[in-house]
Amino acid sequence: MTAAALPIVRTVSALRQATQPWRRAGETIGLVPTMGALHAGHLALVERSVRECARSVATIFVNPKQFDRQEDLKKYPRGEARDARLLAENACNLLFAPDVEEMYPAGFSSSVAVTGVSDVLDGVHRPGHFTGVTTVVCKLLLQALPDRAYFGEKDFQQLTVVKRMARDLDIPVEIVPVPTVREADGLALSSRNVHLTPEQRAVAPLLHRVMQEIAAELADGETPASLLIPEGQMRLGTAGFTKIDYLALHAADDLAPLARVDRPARLFAAAWLGTTRLIDNIPVQPRS
Ligand code: PAJ
Repeated sequence: MTAAALPIVRTVSALRQATQPWRRAGETIGLVPTMGALHAGHLALVERSVRECARSVATIFVNPKQFDRQEDLKKYPRGEARDARLLAENACNLLFAPDVEEMYPAGFSSSVAVTGVSDVLDGVHRPGHFTGVTTVVCKLLLQALPDRAYFGEKDFQQLTVVKRMARDLDIPVEIVPVPTVREADGLALSSRNVHLTPEQRAVAPLLHRVMQEIAAELADGETPASLLIPEGQMRLGTAGFTKIDYLALHAADDLAPLARVDRPARLFAAAWLGTTRLIDNIPVQPRS
């Protein structure tokens, strides 16, 4: 069965025109913000929105403000026609795909910054990244005025930062977390995985495997993180990871660094295979 073509709007006013009748009719609206190059992880967000909301709007915008490396922005994969087809097949109702001038017209000079939860992990290694994310997500929420917005646990720190922003700024939206979708070998799906060479792709799943092993031992509580983590870093380095930005245990709620699992925690990692940076995170539950 071929899905009906997906309506695409490129301006804020066209987006408002398309969504206003839905809002007036009392239909719930779900928003799925993305940067495109869609994969099954993104589509899990769309599926969830379609299941829970009368209308679902996806956005595709490769947001220059959140890229800390020009090279990463330049080579970010793009393919709107394929993305639009996938969204239509997954019963999405509308695609908002603005260009950079629509989102950041000449003279744009505002930003939304969340302190604390933005300052650890990727906040240390990607300066300015989360301010870029919160600025664009705040704009998208105000443009589309959804009842719910869907974010992947794959980017758990981003999810935490966005939740905090919505709460602090009284944005009337429910931020809904969606579990990470993985390949059969454990590698978390990511638009950047296409950049991996076959050799790097073969090594990549080790990140998740090592994290799982560390998480199991941390949950047992016998060996401290200060021993398990350097050992894990060494295994990754030996297997071919060229740089490890972090492998670290943090609290699941406020992302405070933890020495042991004395409350719900997550193990976070960011590691490089050549010029490709992989991130992942998994829950670590304290044994009661
Ligand atoms: P992007 O990397 O395209 O991801 C869009 C959404 O899909 C995010 O909420 C992300 O967490 C989720 N996602 C990505 N891979 C996933 C996976 N394997 N399983 C589950 N969810 C996954 O994240 C961004 O774009 C941008 O920062 C954005 C929020 C759109 C702001 O520009």
